[in-house]
Order: sequence, then structure tokens, then C-alpha cells
Amino acid sequence: MKTYVVCGVSGRAIGMFIEPIVKTFSAHGQVVGLLDVDPRRFEVCFERIPQLSGIPVYAPDQFESMIRETQPDVVIVAGADHTHEQYIVKALEHDLDVITEKPMATTSEECRRILDAEAKSKGKVTVAFNYRYMPIHTKLKEMILEGKIGRVTSVDLNWYIDTFHGASYFKRWNRVRSNSGGLSIHKSTHHFDLVNWWIDQVPVEAFAYGALNYYGPNGELNPAKEDGRYCGTCTVKQDCSYYMRWSTRSREVVPVDDHVGSVTQLQGQSNYTGYRPDACIFDSEIDIEDTYTAVVKYDRGALLSYSVNFSVPYEGYRLAINGTKGRLETQEYHSPGRTPFPVPQQTIDYLPLFGSKETIHVVFTEGGHGGGDPVILEDMFLGPDPRRSYEILSGARAGTNSVLTGEAVWKSVQSGAPVRIQELLEDRSEQN
Ligand SMILES: NC(=O)c1ccc[n+]([C@@H]2O[C@H](COP(=O)([O-])OP(=O)(O)OC[C@H]3O[C@@H](n4cnc5c(N)ncnc54)[C@H](O)[C@@H]3O)[C@@H](O)[C@H]2O)c1
Repeated sequence: MKTYVVCGVSGRAIGMFIEPIVKTFSAHGQVVGLLDVDPRRFEVCFERIPQLSGIPVYAPDQFESMIRETQPDVVIVAGADHTHEQYIVKALEHDLDVITEKPMATTSEECRRILDAEAKSKGKVTVAFNYRYMPIHTKLKEMILEGKIGRVTSVDLNWYIDTFHGASYFKRWNRVRSNSGGLSIHKSTHHFDLVNWWIDQVPVEAFAYGALNYYGPNGELNPAKEDGRYCGTCTVKQDCSYYMRWSTRSREVVPVDDHVGSVTQLQGQSNYTGYRPDACIFDSEIDIEDTYTAVVKYDRGALLSYSVNFSVPYEGYRLAINGTKGRLETQEYHSPGRTPFPVPQQTIDYLPLFGSKETIHVVFTEGGHGGGDPVILEDMFLGPDPRRSYEILSGARAGTNSVLTGEAVWKSVQSGAPVRIQELLEDRSEQN
């Protein structure tokens, strides 16, 4: 039986880790302590999982007391992104294992500190890259490993986030780069990690363009230039297309936001202390981009052509992976409940360079992220599946590579020049 403490009792922490440990993996694990900056988060957790009521809770500056008093085996890190590194490093200093949500950290400097701490520790970092576990994604990995397309030469990946999901990042802490690293890290870390893992190559250089086109004060659909509004109390929301997409003049419809859960339903009377998940998407404090295109070069010659846009009429992605012997293609339409047209079941097309095309129908399983979430949970809480012949759980180096790629992207956007990705890891403190 392993014991766990959780740093950051976020919506994600409760749904992805705490509840499954208590309800599904109780024979193998036990949550023995919680840490968060907001005491209301503990109450919300205990209301949802009464079995945990009474376990010790801690403020951020009580990390050491928590470790001393609860003696955990593993520290789970799942708060706002900019809080990850401090808890990961401290846990490693205690020789403890860490499971962290993505992104592992928000900057290359934080990644370097984590790698240095891990090198000196008996503990090990696991990054919860659940996208790897989606059945389509594991099938793609297996087909590449089987040599179906030969050596990978290029990847085209275009990711689309719909107006509802996209806007949600601009209503919350994610919209400030110092909290999230910007969306090329906070969100694209998933996408860069997938590509890095599929092709098993190391990213070395990135060049990118990016912009804030939709959100922020200059967004074309901003009904009025005024800072500090909240959807719950906004007097011009009937002129806001992002809000009215889901509502009519007499009926406010707020789709469930799986990122903030019930909080969104409370529009304006936040469930949490000092936290409003409905801040205006046109505020001037927004300092990140909502649109990127990037090219990335890999160490063994593969080239990635990537784009992401956070205000698209539907959600999903288009992917093609080209190799010396063939090509894999797939297109996903996500969130069918919000997609304004019928969507096909996702399949994979395999096209050998010479020969007949095959369409692969993948077996989907129940659970979040196409059935991926329950499987990653088993690997994390029961140990990696011994019947799987390839590595799938991500460690700190993979977590680092995805963050470095995201940082290279926004730095290239700012400088207009290509960025050497691995050089971002170099310690520059002595040069300053
Ligand atoms: N893998 C996925 O598919 C997926 C999906 C959603 C979220 N996430 C990740 O999960 C994490 C949480 O995201 P969320 O949207 O659920 O967040 P959230 O807004 O629900 O919660 C953030 C939490 O961090 C806490 N916090 C803030 N400062 C803190 C500090 N100094 N110390 C400890 N806690 C602090 C807040 O009080 C809150 O409990 C993020 O890293 C996010 O990237 C991953």
C-alpha cells in the first residue's frame, strides 16, 4: 500500500487522482494529506469524497511539516502550473517519487532544477501525459514501432480548440504567462510530447510565428474596451459572441466546463476563495498568444509542421506522419456535444508508399480522454502494465523536452529568430 499527498487540490487533482485512489485503487493506495493555498479547496474535496474528511491539510509553507507528519511514499503535484516545480524539487530532496500533472514546469530554468534534483535523488518524476494513452495514439505508436512507415521524416499536426474551450483559458489563471508559461507550454506540451514520443526523436530547433488575435482588449469581438469585467455580472454580455454562442436573450446556457467543473455553473459567485473562473476574455492583463504556427527540427532528421488555434468553430486535430515507407493520417473531432455538425468516428488511414490504403478502426474504451485516463491511472497506481512491450509513462526528461519546445516557440515568436531548443537548458545564472 503506497501513501500519497497532493499539492494543489485542483479540479483535476480531485477527478484524476484523489477520487480514483479512494474509489478504484484503495487496496493499493491511500491519500494521507492535502496541500493548497485555498482552504475552500479542502472543503470541496471532502464534500465530494467524504471518506477523506479529517485527513491533515496544509498551506504551501507547511510542505516540510506535511512530509514529516504524513511520511508519504509519493507526492502528487496538480496545482496551477507555476506551483509545480517547487513541490517537485522539494519532494525529490526527500527522495520521494513524484507524479505531476502537465506541464511539468513553466520554464526551461524550472525544468533544469527538476532534472538536477532528480539526478541527486532516489525519487523519480512521472509526468501524467494522458494523451499518450488514448487508443488512437497508442495504435499510432505501435504502427511506427512495427516499421509500417519506415523512418519518420515529417509530421503535420494542426490542433483546433473551439471557442468555448479556447475562451476558458482566457478566463482563468492560464491567461498570464507567469502562471502557465503561455499556451505553447500549458496546452501544446501535450502535442509536443505526443510527437516526441511517437517518433522517438529529440527536438533541437524551433521557429514560430504567433499572435493574440481573438482575446485581449483588441479582440475584434470585444463588445466594449473596459477591464475587470466578469461574465456573471457583465452588463454587455448580450453583445459578446463568445458568451451568447451558448445562450439566448432570456436563457443563459453555460456548458459544463470540464476544466472548472461546477465552478462555472456558479458564474460570478466563485466556489473558491479569491478565484473567479469567469474573468473577461478581453482583459488587458492577458499576455499570451492564442494562435501559433511553428516548425520544429529533430535530432535524427524529422521535421514537424505544427499549428494551434484557440478560437475555432469546432475542436479536434489533423495529423499526418510521413516516413520512408509510408504515411499515417487521422483526423479527430472532439467534444461532439459542442460540434455544430455530425462527426465521424475517428480512424487511422495507413498508406504505404506503394500499395493499397488501409483504414484502421481502433477499439475505444470508457473513461476520460478516449479511454486513456483509466489506463494511465492503472500504470501509475498499479505499476506499468508488464504486457505492454514499449515505454509509455513519461519521465522528467520527456516532460522537459515538451516544455522546452513550447518555450522555444514563444521565444521565437518574440525574437523572430529560430531557437536552439536544448540550449534553453543551459545554466545562464553565472553569465548574469
Ligand atoms: N492532463 C490533462 O488533460 C489536464 C486537464 C486539466 C488540467 N490539467 C493540469 O492540472 C493542473 C490543475 O489544473 P486545473 O485546471 O484543474 O486547476 P484549478 O484552477 O482547478 O486549480 C488550481 C489549484 O492550484 C491551487 N494553487 C494555487 N497556488 C497554489 C500554491 N502556491 N500551492 C498549492 N496550490 C496552489 C489553487 O488553489 C487550486 O486548487 C494544471 O497543471 C493543469 O495543466 C491537466
